[in-house]
Parts: sequence; C-alpha cells; structure tokens
Amino acid sequence: MSWPVTFFPSGRTVHVDPGTTLLQAAVEAGVSVQTPCGGNGTCGKCRVRLRDGQAPAIGSSAHLSQAELDAGWRLACTTPVTGPLTVDVPEATPDIRPHTILTDTITYNTPHDPRPAGYLGVAFDLGTTTVAGTLFDLHTGRELATRAAMNRQIARGDDVIRRIDAVRRDARALSDLQRLATDTLNAIMLDLVESRPTNVSAIREIVVAGNTTMQHLLLGRDPSPLGEAPFTPAFTDAQTVPAAELELHVHPDAQLMVFPQIGGFVGGDTVSSLLATRLDALPYPALLVDVGTNGEIVLQHEGRLCTASTAAGPAFEGARIRQGMRATEGAIDAIWREMDDLACHVIGDGPARGLCGSALVDAVAELLRLGAIDETGTLRVPDDAAPDFARRFQNVDDEAAVTLAWNATGEPAVRLTQQDIRELQLASGAIRAGIETLLCVVGITAHSLGALLLAGGFGNTLRIANAMRIGLLPRIDESAVRFIGNVSLAGAKQALLAQAERARAQSLRDRTEHIELAQQSGFSNCFMEHMLFPSEQGVST
Ligand code: FES
Repeated sequence: MSWPVTFFPSGRTVHVDPGTTLLQAAVEAGVSVQTPCGGNGTCGKCRVRLRDGQAPAIGSSAHLSQAELDAGWRLACTTPVTGPLTVDVPEATPDIRPHTILTDTITYNTPHDPRPAGYLGVAFDLGTTTVAGTLFDLHTGRELATRAAMNRQIARGDDVIRRIDAVRRDARALSDLQRLATDTLNAIMLDLVESRPTNVSAIREIVVAGNTTMQHLLLGRDPSPLGEAPFTPAFTDAQTVPAAELELHVHPDAQLMVFPQIGGFVGGDTVSSLLATRLDALPYPALLVDVGTNGEIVLQHEGRLCTASTAAGPAFEGARIRQGMRATEGAIDAIWREMDDLACHVIGDGPARGLCGSALVDAVAELLRLGAIDETGTLRVPDDAAPDFARRFQNVDDEAAVTLAWNATGEPAVRLTQQDIRELQLASGAIRAGIETLLCVVGITAHSLGALLLAGGFGNTLRIANAMRIGLLPRIDESAVRFIGNVSLAGAKQALLAQAERARAQSLRDRTEHIELAQQSGFSNCFMEHMLFPSEQGVST
C-alpha cells in the first residue's frame, strides 16, 4: 500500500510507502526543503504544515510549540507518512525546474568533434545543492536546452560533510546517495528531451563536473577519506564508465566521463572552471574564487597555477544563521542604507521570513558603515543612532540582535544576531585567508591582480563593495572583478564537445599545485587577522 502526499505551493503529488518521512517524500516530489542538519531532527529548519490529513508529531516537539503542533506544523525529516496528506512547504521553491540557471558568461570558441547524425550528449554541473545539465546535438555541436534541478541527495544533508558522515556511519548510505545522484541526472535528462524516451536513448555521451564528494558519490566510490586529513580522494584522473553501470536511462552504449580532480576539496568543478576560463593563458595575475560551503580558489601568476580550498562553512548559503535561508521566496536578498536607517528587498515582494547569503554580507557591511558593528564584530547601538535605527536593537535570548525587517504588525520579522555575525566572520575570514595565502605563495599582493573572477551562484549575487567592506575580498579596482556564473558547467560543455578539451582538462589538473592551507606557516595567523573586519579606509591586502 502507498499513500499520496501532495505538496503546496507546487501541487506535486507522490505516492510513498507508509513510514516514509515527509522529507523523503518531498525530495521524491522535487520539492525543496531546508535541511541544514541533514535530516537529523536537530536544526528545526525543515518545518512543513499539514493542510489535510494526520501525521504523528514524532521528533517535532523539541523545535515546535504545542500551539504550532496543534496548527499542523511538523519537522519533515522526523514525521512519517501514515496516510494521505496535503502539505504546505513554506520555504519550498515552487518547482525545482524554474531555478535560475546561471549559465556561463564566458565566451569561447569551443572546438567540436562532429559525431554521427542523431547523437545527443549532456554536460552536467553536479552541485551539492543544484544540478544543471545542458543537452547538445553532438553532430552539429548545437546547444539545445539547459535545465536545473535540486540534487536529490539533499535529503541526506545540505553540505558535503554531512553526506560523507552519512557514509562513514553506515556504508549502505553510499548506494543510497549514488542512486539519489543518478535519479537527479535521469530526471534532468528526461526534462531536457521533453519526456520523449526515444530522445533519451539517443544520448550517447555524458560529461559531469562536480566537487570531489559529488564525483565520488556519483561513481559509488567511498568518500570517507575526504572526511579527515589528509583528505585523499580515491581517484584524481578523469574517469570514464558505461552509463548503464550507473543505471542512467540513456543509449545502452553511452559513456559517462567524470572530470579529473586535484585533491582534497578541490574537485572536478574547479578543473572544469579552469578549462572554461582559460585562466592559465591570461597575460596577468588572475584569481578565480568560488564562494560556497567550501571556497575554492585558484591563482595564476606567470603561468603558475596554485589552488586551495577553505572550509568556509555554510553561512553564505544561509545555514548556521539563525534566520538564514536559501535565496527563495520570502528571503531578504539585498540590504542597503536609506538615510541613517536600513532598507531591504524581499524575494517575491511578500513578507520577509529570513535572509540569504548576499543579504548577510550587505547587512554586516552596512552595520559596519553605520558604526553598529566594530572591527571585532561586536554588535552595539551606535551613540548617535537615529531613533528609527536605534529601535532595531534588542536582545534575543540574552544575545544582541538587530531587526532587519518588521512584520505587518510592527513586530521583528527577521533579525541578525551576534552569533550570526560570528559565523560570517569565520566564513569570510577563511576565504580571505586562503586568498592571501595563495598570493603569498606566488609572491605577489592583491594589487597585482589583473582579474578577480567570481564563480558560482552566490558570487553572482554579491555586491562587490560590500564584500570588500567586510574583508571577504581584497580591496582592488572594482573593474577587475567579474562575475562569471556557472563556469563549471561551461567547462563540462567544452569537454563534452571535444576530446582535445578533455586532454586539456587533464593537463590543467597535472600542472595545478594543490596548496594545503593548514600546512602553510602563517595561515592560522592570517585567518585570525581576517576574521576582524577591516577599517573603513583599511586597505588590507
Ligand atoms: S531538523 Fe534539520 S533537517 Fe529536519
């Protein structure tokens, strides 16, 4: 017997076995639920509300009041399905497919090896949160469509560490995570060919670029060594396997290539980004930064390539921030000063329910400018605060906090707390220290940089001046900073179209030096130094 579960606002219905959690059902339906703790029932962020039907409140009472439980609120990760249900998901993306797809902004002349007529191919960027795929006609080299979807592994944790932990705790989780990855790829390919099975079976080649953990999990390789020093990956060369082995529903002879990876947390997505940006060929020092849960950084100077990854923490993706959330409806995504007070924009223009990473950076930058945060990160009411600004400051649970948005009745709707600021200091300090350490390794300063390329979804939404104000990025001429979008997907496309690009990816992997930050003398001090916010005039490079 199975029970129907319908999620709103998407209206999607899935049929699941009794005992399946609401979170598992949501993932199957392609509905996005926040899962910072990886479905362990500890973060309290996966709240959903029963609209019709009954479900026991198992594991929900620690995070929900009796009134909330009575009103139908439950934690999705702990609540089993015991009958037909209709569920509201307040922070769900209405449908995963309309995700903003950050296609590459790199222009390039991709060589193309023509294949026989009728051959299709797909290039994937396999992200921890979002997976994007582009369909090509391999005969003509023409790009046909791009689609994105949530990575179904998200039911096992928001970040790679939780997914590695899941495998370390229970070896059976590996095949589960592999299946969730291949389910995601199969769903995207079906979507790309508009659900016509004949076209799916015309897919002959697949190229995937992802971080080391995602690439391991897709191939069913144990990622456990990535969970502890020296973070050694099971493979570093490109891997090519029959797609059928991974149960991908494409042509029976189709092959899947996974990008070569450098080591530690510097994976195939970084190699594919290098491929697409031609960073190695730029005639000036250039830095590539992908700000995410792990900040990956590559520096090129006189043809030398050095890379490092920093454990930035998930603050930029809204996790570990009291009211942090992804950039979906209800999230504050921009904050700025208006007179001597703050103003904000909310995605969807409805009530504010939380803030996403770009707004976190904005908030702290503006509070620094207003004198409400000092260089140590301490939050306080400035002596000369205007009345409207001063009333934003209140303690919450004995912790200093500032209100960023009010609800319709004038109560605080979204607050930034002292601990949130500490989390940002950790994340920002780690990335900046990584940048400074690489600059030090090659013997230049940030002033020498001819380009600073910001990759990835979060990078695209950053306000550069604010990122520099909090010290996340060095203060350089803003015209040198460029947003390059989903450049990892761009690299995967190039490798799909031409064998020479695959060889070039391997060569880039071979010549890129992996710098272990923790082993660099001075890294710890640099990290401590950059956890402090720079002064307004500070040129801390
Ligand atoms: S409580 Fe964290 S995902 Fe459910």
